[in-house]
Amino acid sequence: MAAEPMIIALDGPAGSGKSSTATGLARRLGWLHLDTGAWYRVTALLGGREDVDPADAVALGRLLDRVDRALAASDWPGEEPRRVLVDGEDVTAAIRTPEVSASVSRYSRVPTVRERLNAGFRRLAARTRAPGVVAEGRDITTVTFPDASLRVLLTATPQARARRRAAQLGETDVAGIARDIAERDRRDLAVVDFLTPAAGVVSLDTSELTLGQVIDRIVDLLPVDRR
Ligand code: DC
Repeated sequence: MAAEPMIIALDGPAGSGKSSTATGLARRLGWLHLDTGAWYRVTALLGGREDVDPADAVALGRLLDRVDRALAASDWPGEEPRRVLVDGEDVTAAIRTPEVSASVSRYSRVPTVRERLNAGFRRLAARTRAPGVVAEGRDITTVTFPDASLRVLLTATPQARARRRAAQLGETDVAGIARDIAERDRRDLAVVDFLTPAAGVVSLDTSELTLGQVIDRIVDLLPVDRR
């Protein structure tokens, strides 16, 4: 029988280098990259389009059924950059707009949404064709995959996070970006604490490391036969 897929659980705030690290790790290992934030974003995108009130259990259930089907169909190990498809529509760009970023917490703070998405992430990880999964998010090390073989919390100073985000966006107003990040942290931290490492979680400060160094450090933590 094939070995169980191995899971690397990665948490961290915006600007910690989490997405680039997860992307690079998945590419290097040939594993499935599971960007859980993308599915919270899909929920907010579809919910917003269809005007789904998160308090309306029936409408929310229908919305989550649709997200669940799209998530289940997203097992494409090794494909980077990852595309996000819902019923044949490529929503990769649509889920990254500032409007969607601002509206995610309306849905992500609802326990049913978190339970349904987490159940979908676990099913996908259990069934994937890939030898392993790199799952990134906010509560992956604590709630989604608390038994993952390797759990890492990426951190970075507020200055490093703002500098990185500014470079990614081609922005020069680093102070403005720092304010945006602080505002997003405030909203996201009300839903889940992603700044404190849980017991057994490796904390890695990426402020002074290059992306390659961060990936090397994580690969070094894997058993030799899985690197
Ligand atoms: O990582 P990201 O910025 O793409 O995440 C999008 C949103 O989803 C953000 O508001 C945090 C939320 N999120 C969450 O609540 N739990 C996760 N596991 C991943 C993301």
